[in-house]
Amino acid sequence: MTHHSSSDALQMSSEEMRTLGYQIVDMIVDHFEHVEDISLATRADRRTLEQRLREPLPEEGSPVEQVLEQLQRDVFANVVPLDHPRFFAFIPGPNNFVSVMADALTSGFNAFAGTWRLAPGTAQVELVTIDWLRQLCGLPETAGGLFVGGGSLATLTALATARHIKLADNIQDAVVYCSDQTHSASDRALKLLGFAPQQLRRLPSDASFRLSTDALIRAIEEDRAAGKRPFCVIGNAGTTNTGAVDPLAIMVDICRAQDLWLHIDAAHGGAAILTEQGQCLLQGLELADSLALDPHKWLFQPYEIGCVLTRQSRWLYETFSVLPEILKDVAGREEEVNFRDYGIQLTRSTRTLKLWMSLKVFGLAAFRHAIERGIALAEYAETLLRQSPGWEVLTPAQLGIVTFRYVGRSQGDVNALNQRILDAMFADGFAFLTSTLLRGQTALRLCIINPRTTEADIQGTLQRLTQFGESLSDS
Ligand SMILES: Cc1ncc(COP(=O)(O)O)c(C=O)c1O
Repeated sequence: MTHHSSSDALQMSSEEMRTLGYQIVDMIVDHFEHVEDISLATRADRRTLEQRLREPLPEEGSPVEQVLEQLQRDVFANVVPLDHPRFFAFIPGPNNFVSVMADALTSGFNAFAGTWRLAPGTAQVELVTIDWLRQLCGLPETAGGLFVGGGSLATLTALATARHIKLADNIQDAVVYCSDQTHSASDRALKLLGFAPQQLRRLPSDASFRLSTDALIRAIEEDRAAGKRPFCVIGNAGTTNTGAVDPLAIMVDICRAQDLWLHIDAAHGGAAILTEQGQCLLQGLELADSLALDPHKWLFQPYEIGCVLTRQSRWLYETFSVLPEILKDVAGREEEVNFRDYGIQLTRSTRTLKLWMSLKVFGLAAFRHAIERGIALAEYAETLLRQSPGWEVLTPAQLGIVTFRYVGRSQGDVNALNQRILDAMFADGFAFLTSTLLRGQTALRLCIINPRTTEADIQGTLQRLTQFGESLSDS
């Protein structure tokens, strides 16, 4: 008999496992404690990383300490920390330690979350957690959903359901409407679902970057008159650009009157429903046919967790269920929910534990306060900008996002000046922000949703931006 070592069975002794586990916990805790000391300046380029990380496929193993060291030095040191309190670009990812540990447990127990018979425990936790989100969003008890990899997959799942339920999958001449501020996740989803680009009508938004409902009604009428089949409207509950919320309640009325599916992209703004201000802003959310949420944004979860909710849980089932021979034995009774029948994945891990555990450990009130803090800090940034000569606020603080630009005394190209300010910030590394284009104007943008961000972080960032603005407009 040939010698069979434990590492051939991909095993470690319990001692080795504990040592490795504690070492990794130490690394993670260290990251949480010192993340604000990490520079936000640009990382290594492709050539450098090719040199450091390119190697032949390792036939023999090497000591785990060595691999961890390399991971720290070459990999994590080259990841911009999206959980840094001065990371204000795109949508930051301020996660929490409880959820990180829940992710470790999820892969440690490797629970298969596609089939009730195999893992009723995790399926029930998913049912309960989905139902918590349903309650928060005010959808009826008939609603259901599932956790997916992110907002893009939630959008794809929702629009596939809309296509099936509303069109019986016949997309000929069907038209979808949204504002020009809608996230590209919707374009991609429709493309994958077979729609031609012209079947998505991106309508001009109003002065506040909200969908113009007059333009929507006109477009629907025109399309009907031309023999097209309007079938779906995509509303925004917090655009990525400016945090704008479309007039959801009016869109609900239009969709009901016109028999259209209303999908709402609440990937960024949905979490604000926990707050009083958010509840006012998001009125109408509760009447959507489908919703895309993204707990890995403003519900402080590590990547990847998105969530799709539909007004009727059975709509997902009708769209996605198939029952091949191999799964017959685990078809299950009616009350046994098999999440494999509600979305694209058959084999799926439970993405739920992190959200469930962190909600239970911290409590909803802590989440609410953390979200309120982001809303308030963006308002604080807006106040400072309005008091500072040289700055122009382009869109007021909305759902944690404020956009602005430096005009100074400059007679020159304001767009180019703001681009240069941004480049100076990238090189500086104190804070990380990005720009967007608003009606041809380069807008600097702060998305402030990290509850660990302080007033001093905002002041320091704006001070630097002003310094760069002054020196670059003089040059
Ligand atoms: C409004 C909005 N919708 C959809 C998405 C896509 O979500 P994800 O990146 O999680 O796939 C984003 C991501 O930034 C977003 O801001």
